[in-house]
Amino acid sequence: MSKKIAIIGGGNLGTAIAEGLMNSGFVLAQDIIITKRNTETLASLKERGIQTSNNNNEAAAFADYVILAVKPFQLKEVLTGIKPHLKANKQVLISVATGVWIKEMQDLLDEPFTIFRVMPNTAIAIQQSMTCISHHNANASQMQFVSQVFNQLGKSVYIEEKLMDAATVLGACGTAYAMRYIRANIQGGIEIGFSAATASLIAAQTVKGAAELLLLKNTHPEQEIDKVTTPKGCTIAGLNEMEHQGFSSSLIKGIVTSYRKIVDGM
Ligand SMILES: NC(=O)c1ccc[n+]([C@@H]2O[C@H](COP(=O)([O-])OP(=O)(O)OC[C@H]3O[C@@H](n4cnc5c(N)ncnc54)[C@H](OP(=O)(O)O)[C@@H]3O)[C@@H](O)[C@H]2O)c1
Repeated sequence: MSKKIAIIGGGNLGTAIAEGLMNSGFVLAQDIIITKRNTETLASLKERGIQTSNNNNEAAAFADYVILAVKPFQLKEVLTGIKPHLKANKQVLISVATGVWIKEMQDLLDEPFTIFRVMPNTAIAIQQSMTCISHHNANASQMQFVSQVFNQLGKSVYIEEKLMDAATVLGACGTAYAMRYIRANIQGGIEIGFSAATASLIAAQTVKGAAELLLLKNTHPEQEIDKVTTPKGCTIAGLNEMEHQGFSSSLIKGIVTSYRKIVDGM
């Protein structure tokens, strides 16, 4: 692909996007420019041929797609700063800033832009993110390009922007929920005889395998559970005890509590 990409804000997420795109071969290093104020931390990307800069204007003018990867509170200043170097018929904007609505960005601009808002998760660092994408004004080829970008970095799905808060909970907070589930497995594994290292390996790989079963076979979790639960067996006994203790209910309540925290700011 010959599209040029600017990443404004070369922090955790910005560098993960640059590295993932380069590793996948989807974008040539020379077609990526990444900026931050202190460019010293971008040295390894520069060595691999990516352009690095502390000049957002230069980066914006270079690009077809401008990925805004600064902190939410920095976004307004950054977007206002590069505005004179953006043209609606040349650049498409992609924001990864949590909680900033497309309309808020559009209101800072003088002409109607194509704007994407995306919500990846921390597994983007290993190209295994679940990324939810919404857009305003995008045509089919722009939508395809942006989904291809994030498919290099894991999996992606288009959602309505009104679901972005829900996507933050299920897709981004979800990493923490999964980690806590795995940690509990490790604690249980140690109690029944494994070393911490062995329990960690078994727990993490088992969860990874379970997730891959669903993703590759497109089955419902309960279908896979039925294959493991022998009548009167140990799996169903353990599962039912977990449910008596409120396992599914506690997860659902946690998800809804995280969501309400975002929506109501309680
Ligand atoms: N991390 C995640 O997994 C994740 C997931 C979903 C969404 N997000 C969103 O992604 C965004 C970035 O998160 P992050 O974790 O990558 O934050 P981060 O590591 O703090 O990165 C932000 C970067 O922006 C740079 N920056 C600040 N002001 C700038 C300016 N005026 N011009 C150019 N660069 C500037 C900073 O470097 P300098 O100080 O050197 O300029 C910093 O490296 C946030 O809006 C966050 O809500 C992150």
